[in-house]
Amino acid sequence: MVAVRDVDSLRRRIQAWRREGLSVALVPTMGALHKGHLTLMDRAQKMADRVVATIFVNPKQFGPREDFAAYPRRETEDFEMLVAAGVHVLFAPDVPAIYPPGFATNVGITGLSDVLDGAHRPGHFDGVATVVTKLLLQVLPDIALFGEKDYQQLMIIRRLVADLNIPVDIIGVPTVREADGLAMSSRNAYLSADERARAPALYKAITAAAAQIAKGGDIAAALAVARDAIGQAGFGTIDYVEARHAETLQPLKAGEPGRVLAAAHMGRARLIDNVTI
Ligand code: PAJ
Repeated sequence: MVAVRDVDSLRRRIQAWRREGLSVALVPTMGALHKGHLTLMDRAQKMADRVVATIFVNPKQFGPREDFAAYPRRETEDFEMLVAAGVHVLFAPDVPAIYPPGFATNVGITGLSDVLDGAHRPGHFDGVATVVTKLLLQVLPDIALFGEKDYQQLMIIRRLVADLNIPVDIIGVPTVREADGLAMSSRNAYLSADERARAPALYKAITAAAAQIAKGGDIAAALAVARDAIGQAGFGTIDYVEARHAETLQPLKAGEPGRVLAAAHMGRARLIDNVTI
C-alpha cells in the first residue's frame, strides 16, 4: 500500500490503473479504524480491482462545540490495518490539501440534511456532503462504499450523487456490531467501562421498537417505550428516537418501508444507531 497526501499524486496513481482497465472502489473514513471500517474495505476488495481508502478528519463536519480536536487519531495503527486489509492506496491529506485558502464552495442537500442528526448538528451534513463530493471527484471511482451505521449520511450521499450526476454506484453496507449489539464506532473509545456496559441498551431499545411497529403496533407508543428504556439504561440527553420513511426520512406512516433511528449521549460519547423495520 502507498500513502499519498496530495490530490495530484492520487490522480496519477488512479489514471495509471485506468489505463490498465482496472476498476476502482473508494472507502472514505475519518480513521481510528475498527471492524466496521474493515468490513467496508473487504467488500470493496471483492467488488473492484483496486481500493482507495481515505482518512481525513473533516473539520467542516464538526460543530464549534463538538469533538474535532479530541477525535481519535491513530495513523500508525490505521496504516497497518489497511495494509492487512489489502488496500492499494491510502489518501490521507492534511486540511489545506482539501480546503486551500480561498475555498468557498458548500454542497447542501435540502430537507434530508435538516432532520434527525441534522437538526441537532447544524451544518454537519453540509460538511459531510462537501467533503464526500470532493473525494468522489478526486478519485472518480466506479463504486464508493458507506455504512448503514450512518444511515442519514448514506441517504444524503445517494441523493447528492443522483442530483449532481456523479457517475458512481453508492454501496450501503450493513452495520457491524459488537457481540452485545453495540454498533462499532470510533467514538466508543470515549466510553468508560461502566458506560460501555450500558451502551447496548440503545440498540436493544430500537430493535424492540422496530419489532413492535413491524407487527402493526402503534408507532408513537413503541417509540415512547424505547425512549424510556434508553433513559433507564443511564443515557443522558436523548437527541431523538424516531421512526422514519427509509428513503425520505420523513415521519413514517403505517405500511411504508421504515427505519427506527436514535441518537443519545452516554458520558462524553454521542452514540447513534438505526435498524430496519
Ligand atoms: P467514519 O465515521 O470514519 O466512517 C467511515 C465509514 O465507515 C462510513 O461510511 C460509516 O458509515 C462506516 N462505518 C462506521 N462504523 C460502522 C459500522 N459499525 N458498521 C458499518 N459501517 C460503519 O462517516 C464518516 O467517517 C465521515 O462522515 C465521512 C463519510 C468519511 C466523511 O468525512
